[in-house]
Amino acid sequence: MRFEDRTVFITGAGSGIGRATALRVAEDGGFVVATDVDETGGTETVEAVEAIGGEAVFHELDVTDAEAFDAVVETAIGEHGLDAIVNNAGIGHSPADTEDVTEETFERVVDVNVRGVWNGCRAALPHFRARGDGAIVNVGSLASFLGLPKQSVYSLTKGAVMNFTRAIAAEAGRDGVRANAVCPGFVETSLGNMHFESMSNPEKAKAQAEKQYPLGRFAEPEEIADAIAFLLSEEASFITGHGLVVDGGYSVS
Ligand code: NAI
Repeated sequence: MRFEDRTVFITGAGSGIGRATALRVAEDGGFVVATDVDETGGTETVEAVEAIGGEAVFHELDVTDAEAFDAVVETAIGEHGLDAIVNNAGIGHSPADTEDVTEETFERVVDVNVRGVWNGCRAALPHFRARGDGAIVNVGSLASFLGLPKQSVYSLTKGAVMNFTRAIAAEAGRDGVRANAVCPGFVETSLGNMHFESMSNPEKAKAQAEKQYPLGRFAEPEEIADAIAFLLSEEASFITGHGLVVDGGYSVS
């Protein structure tokens, strides 16, 4: 019960990696503040947590809205306390050469993936600093370290998430705050599948991509959630500013 008496705030908790993280934290005794722009998904996550005997509450939240973010964090602190935040919400874009990405796509992806993480850290940090304790996990990607072809804007945002995480770790470590990133390879979620959807034969393309993973398969969302939970927990008490790559060996092969 690593998270007993601890409250973990999760963005993008209505689906994929965010939902798996909510379930992992709840299994280990933590109270989950599940947030998402998608009310249906977020509510389903709370129901899934309750179905395993855990405790969670849902707040609708668009991470790009700083004022709303501050308000939901304030409410969470008032009602449940706040020990950790997982800035997981993120979006991708269809594969495209850099010059073919529209300004609208650029702005939207940067807004959610970069501003959203900034908003989350900015909202939680004063509370964490004041109590001298807090853990932040930002969800990066393999694209935090590798330049992915036809994913240059996504790569730009995930590189930014990684270096922002390092800066927070350096800045707030003396205040008792740890900040880390989890950087997954492909995970079969709605976001992950978007990468293949525009291809002529998505199933064939996926099968070929899977072969490039030394472990011979893609990750399950639960395997990413395990890495996030580890970095949130006391087991990682001396780890900060780290980008934990969870990619079945893809980046070293
Ligand atoms: P997903 O699409 O299953 O879940 C993303 C969630 O974020 C959804 O519930 C969605 O409603 C929510 N969301 C989107 N925009 C939002 C906003 N403005 N405010 C609040 N919530 C918002 O995708 P997945 O795969 O679970 O993605 C989670 C994170 O993992 C993202 O940051 C993504 O970039 C990252 N990631 C995913 C990989 C994959 O292959 N699936 C690989 C590497 C990183």
